[in-house]
Amino acid sequence: MLKLLKLLQDGRFHSGEALGAALGVSRSAIWKQLQQLEAELNLPIFKVRGHGYRLPAPLILLDKDRIASGKGSAWSFFLHESLDSTNAEALRLLGRGEVAPFVVLAERQTGGRGRRGRSWFSPFAENLYYSLVIRIDGGAHQVEGLSLVVGLAVVRALSALGVGGVGLKWPNDILVNEKKIAGILLELMGDPADICHVVIGIGINANMSSELQVIDQPWTSLCLELGELIDRNLLIIELNDQLETYLSSHFEKGFAGLRAEWEKNHLWQGRQVDLIAGAQRIGGTVLGINDRGALRLLVDGAEREFSGGELSLRLRNDS
Ligand code: BTN
Repeated sequence: MLKLLKLLQDGRFHSGEALGAALGVSRSAIWKQLQQLEAELNLPIFKVRGHGYRLPAPLILLDKDRIASGKGSAWSFFLHESLDSTNAEALRLLGRGEVAPFVVLAERQTGGRGRRGRSWFSPFAENLYYSLVIRIDGGAHQVEGLSLVVGLAVVRALSALGVGGVGLKWPNDILVNEKKIAGILLELMGDPADICHVVIGIGINANMSSELQVIDQPWTSLCLELGELIDRNLLIIELNDQLETYLSSHFEKGFAGLRAEWEKNHLWQGRQVDLIAGAQRIGGTVLGINDRGALRLLVDGAEREFSGGELSLRLRNDS
């Protein structure tokens, strides 16, 4: 099916006859495959008598060879047409003895996972669904601040591709003009105090542009910000490169060395916020973070520190 999709990815019309000839199958076999594409990948295909078939818009598929030729290609990677979740697949691979570091990529996710038990919208061939697995055997302090470091690497990658005004919201949301463009979900396997593996799941809105109702928060994408179709292969190469740089710095010097750079990129420094912790809301002013990546908040005149994967921030209406 992917071969057929590759022939259609330019977004132009192709006749059934030409597609059949290119793949060495009959026109009716092409018709069946197109129906399968529509049904399985939820990808609409326009059919016009006398012209043939075309996709609603051009798309650039992920390409193994191009990704492998990139600067950060030292990591081996697994590329899938469809997965429940790249994080889930990464954990399964670890369970089967796959040796880290490695990356799992997919053209779509049917059960993409977000933070705090939410789902992550993952349509076919539009966005980036990326999970990097690393091994940590230096103790729990190496995990501290790790998700914030990953956020910095994502900000750098998006800026390198030309996106302006991109920054962070503690702990690791990536925003442009208060709209979410990327999210990070870390999942741990093993004992963080001894030897463990961390699955670094990153979702980046790349070419998503339609008015979708399924996302329950303001969002944007690289394509909306830059006004053109994004080649996700280049995005992966840039992301690999930035992750290599920032993770090496974190593991060599510790998170404290990146704290100032993180705060410089924090869009909500000095803002009045509510910290959401389950049903609890704590109001305060953002002072910054500490050397372990915990949030420093001024609450009723006193500084307090907060950390934990289940926490999130909302701007106060009056800030
Ligand atoms: C968030 O809620 O902000 C985190 C979203 C993380 C989504 C990515 S997409 C790749 C990886 N696989 C998943 O199932 N989730 C992460």
